[in-house]
Amino acid sequence: MSNGAMPKPEESDRADAPRHVAIIMDGNGRWAAARGLPRAEGHRRGVDALRKVVRATGELGISYLTIFSFSSENWSRPASEIGDLFGLLRRFIRNDLATLHADGVRVRVIGERGGLESDICTLLNEAEDLTRNNTRLTLVVAFNYGSRQEIANAAQRLAREVAEGKRDPATITTDVLGSYLDTSDIPDPDLIIRTSGEQRLSNFLMWQAAYSELVFVPIHWPDFDKAALEGAIAEYATRERRFGGLIAKNVAKTGS
Ligand code: FPP
Repeated sequence: MSNGAMPKPEESDRADAPRHVAIIMDGNGRWAAARGLPRAEGHRRGVDALRKVVRATGELGISYLTIFSFSSENWSRPASEIGDLFGLLRRFIRNDLATLHADGVRVRVIGERGGLESDICTLLNEAEDLTRNNTRLTLVVAFNYGSRQEIANAAQRLAREVAEGKRDPATITTDVLGSYLDTSDIPDPDLIIRTSGEQRLSNFLMWQAAYSELVFVPIHWPDFDKAALEGAIAEYATRERRFGGLIAKNVAKTGS
């Protein structure tokens, strides 16, 4: 990931900085097609972009970065492309884990582990175990992840507790349901970025995105870099986050 220690966070403009940025890394295939290259090359260049963005995220003092690296819907792609994506994840963990650890990055993986090949599960567990106590940046890798399944899993666990007489249904509040999601120990994303111009969530963090600011950037993921990340954060800083309430100046005006 880096040749030396990750530099200290930049102190400028920290007040408007999001604490948690989540990214839908879209457009690898279109990036490759535009250059007459195979889709696999687009994904490979996507991993290069990811390395740069993890580093930039740490430099900008962001505490959590979540990346959508394989969705539960990606299984509908040709087997060869699925193999390419799994191969890239294997290489990413084998090649980059030591550097991520040295840079103080804690790796967390969300999504379904069942059904994944055992060597992938071993690598994911290894990445989480090695980096468990790091505090500089939490990199949340959404792998074989889909929001609807995540919410359904939480509902199943809660229903089982009710059926076993261990829980009163009236105790199932939004906080309780949130604590049964894969992200129970991770704050909701402040900013969700999607590259490549598509404007949808595609089953990504749908519960957690209730009050996230969404920024859609027209460039394909392999071209996304620190400047593009700073551009998205600048856009985020112009937004008024009200969380369903009133903006501060209106509260002052009405005195309520
Ligand atoms: C979208 O591009 C991207 C993906 C389906 C996967 C993103 C994966 C990577 C950046 C590399 C793998 C990640 C790790 C952690 C190893 P697309 O194929 O949907 O592009 P298109 O919409 O232009 O076809």
